[in-house]
Amino acid sequence: SNPSLLILPGDGIGPEVMAEVRKIIDWYGAKRDLAFDVSEDLVGGAAYDKHGTPLHDDTMAKAQTVDAVLLGAVGGPKYDNLDFSVKPERGLLRLRKEMDLFANLRPAQCFDALADFSSLKKDVVAGLDIMIVRELTSGIYFGEPRGIIEEGNERVGINTQRYTESEIDRVARSAFELAMKRGKKLCSMEKANVMESGILWREVVTEVGKEYPEVELSHMYADAGAMQLCRWPKQFDVIVTDNLFGDLLSDAAAMLTGSLGMLPSASLGQPMENGRPKALYEPVHGSAPDIAGQGKANPIACILSFAMALRYSFDMGEEADRLEKAVEQVLADGKRTADLLGEEGVTPVSTSEMGDAVVAALDAS
Ligand code: NAI
Ligand code: MG
Repeated sequence: SNPSLLILPGDGIGPEVMAEVRKIIDWYGAKRDLAFDVSEDLVGGAAYDKHGTPLHDDTMAKAQTVDAVLLGAVGGPKYDNLDFSVKPERGLLRLRKEMDLFANLRPAQCFDALADFSSLKKDVVAGLDIMIVRELTSGIYFGEPRGIIEEGNERVGINTQRYTESEIDRVARSAFELAMKRGKKLCSMEKANVMESGILWREVVTEVGKEYPEVELSHMYADAGAMQLCRWPKQFDVIVTDNLFGDLLSDAAAMLTGSLGMLPSASLGQPMENGRPKALYEPVHGSAPDIAGQGKANPIACILSFAMALRYSFDMGEEADRLEKAVEQVLADGKRTADLLGEEGVTPVSTSEMGDAVVAALDAS
């Protein structure tokens, strides 16, 4: 049967960028004879407007059975005053939680044509292609005890960093598997010098590493890692780290490459019956209400998220390469949405013109 894909465009620019991915899916069907069973549903504010909940149970059930979910973005000012339990973000959090998506893949890739756009020197970022794997479901954002308590005559804010061996083991495994498919180099980052969870993290990652003798494993303290990421990011291939450090390091790494409009992500869970991991793909950016409805959004982050789905959920690595090369070609040709404009005198292309240009580059591939 065809690979199945659930598309959840969401709010704001979500539907706009997803329309461009649709063109690409259609191209694969027409020109490469790759048919996907695509279904589409509501999430976030759009789902709240129709059902009074940011994720309908039927949509949740569907997400559990498809090979991959592709989400646009959720949220917007219209929903800012809603009760916490039905806020658009809750729809996304429910998907992540119930699908148990513990490995968050955040690539930082610098297309040559955009190397001038980075805040770092061109030779530091040109050709950069690294991947940060962030543990997403445990650690200090979830550990108990937590809360603000009275102690003596003042209040204390408490969060607990807590990792079980199995939580470290499974995310380490995802990172090693990924490293095997890439440059066979993995750097694990923690703070084993000052944190108990860091000591355990290092031990478990080292243990899992014995099953992957081909992968060159190194360890780095996360603060030193942050420095190295800015100094010479090309020394890395895959980085694996916990939820908190991963949050910071992946946002920092993202900015090595330029605009939010360029950044894809994947969140992976346990393997399903077909051996593929449960998976949700989404651009890093949000619903961008400031530019929504104006045809200004850059669809590349969402297009590259679909490329990740081709690679990690559908075993179509060559087609993923083809799509990424098409994006690279379009940028090399000088096509820029407004967010990618540094220089004067260049006229930006619209969301749909950018999508059409990628399809044209696919045609020429
Ligand atoms: P945002 O990512 O939506 O926008 C930040 C800035 O980047 C804005 O100036 C926006 O115009 C620009 N931008 C973002 N994506 C772009 C694209 N594809 N092309 C061109 N420019 C782009 O973050 P913000 O403004 O903090 O949040 C807006 C809404 O999105 C909020 O309701 C927030 O809760 C939600 N949000 C949702 C996320 C998700 O669905 N995963 C993630 C982050 C925020
Ligand atoms: Mg963050």
